[in-house]
Amino acid sequence: MSIISKDIQKAITILTNNNLVAIPTETVYGLAGNIFSKKAIKNIFKTKKRPLFNPLIVHIASIDNLQDIVSEIPEKAAMLAKAFWPGSMTLVLKKNPIIPDIITAGKDTVAVRIPNHPVTLELLQKLPFPLAAPSANPFNNISPTKPEHVEGYFKNDIQQVLDGGACKNGIESTIIGFENNEPIIYRLGALSIEKIEAVIGKIAIKNTKEENPEAPGMLHKHYSPLTKTILTTNIPNEVSKHPTKKIGLLSFNTSYKEKAIVTEIILSKLGNLEEAATNLYDALHQLDSLNLDVIIVEKLPEIGLGKSINDRLKRASF
Ligand code: TXA
Ligand code: MG
Repeated sequence: MSIISKDIQKAITILTNNNLVAIPTETVYGLAGNIFSKKAIKNIFKTKKRPLFNPLIVHIASIDNLQDIVSEIPEKAAMLAKAFWPGSMTLVLKKNPIIPDIITAGKDTVAVRIPNHPVTLELLQKLPFPLAAPSANPFNNISPTKPEHVEGYFKNDIQQVLDGGACKNGIESTIIGFENNEPIIYRLGALSIEKIEAVIGKIAIKNTKEENPEAPGMLHKHYSPLTKTILTTNIPNEVSKHPTKKIGLLSFNTSYKEKAIVTEIILSKLGNLEEAATNLYDALHQLDSLNLDVIIVEKLPEIGLGKSINDRLKRASF
């Protein structure tokens, strides 16, 4: 029997018993548990095979709950929260002492966001506790944007995927931290830099340090298909290097006619970057299921969400 169901009451019961439910958000599906339950949180790490040094995002229902989670709200954080929540932005702020160390991997900061999905907002409003929810995929795998993706990963591990349909935005939230009271981007994501800068002015992007990344979502290899994946700006040239291989192609807006291409998925025929982001992970899931020898992906224009998509494609192909 499928574990996918729209039954919110069932999700409430499972979560209240300190078990896990996969929840829909506008970015990707999350693997959710009660932030105050040691059992639930340990189970999230175990189910995902996620290292304990990689902290979790706390999901809350309303801005009124923020002061329960964090101990300081810098002025620009308040401006960002007002402008973009509920939405695809996570803020990393000084934590309130009640937040368990296992959530933050021992850091003195906590990541928090209000997701913009009607089903999960209703769920969060009805629960007496916030939800910790990393993306609902095994560590390093492709994030899930449809209930079926989560079921494929975890049908033997969790009791329910709360069905909220396909995720509208399709890639993870943009993570913003604060250093010396100034905002800095830890992870590019579904909210573009251009939109952020329109509210708070210029913002820097944290350099990735492979040994000790601020956000392990910045690990060089991440979000990966199992099939060998190559990122390029020149599709015909890359295809010509693999004459005997079964090739799957992920292109931005153009169709390529090379013979060796077995399957081609176009992210957005109209060249719309939002649409490309929405379709990205589902396309990678599809290509990865076809037993291809290689997946060749086309680099997108480096503007708006193109930057975020290219960030994920780089990590998928590392
Ligand atoms: O869109 C999203 O953000 C999704 C949905 C489910 O909300 N969640 C998500 O969670 O992508 P996850 O766990 O896959 O990625 C969270 C990232 C990780 O790279 C983690 O290291 C970083 O957030 N993070 C969490 N707490 C942090 C902290 N205190 N300081 C720096 N980075 C933090
Ligand atoms: Mg993740």
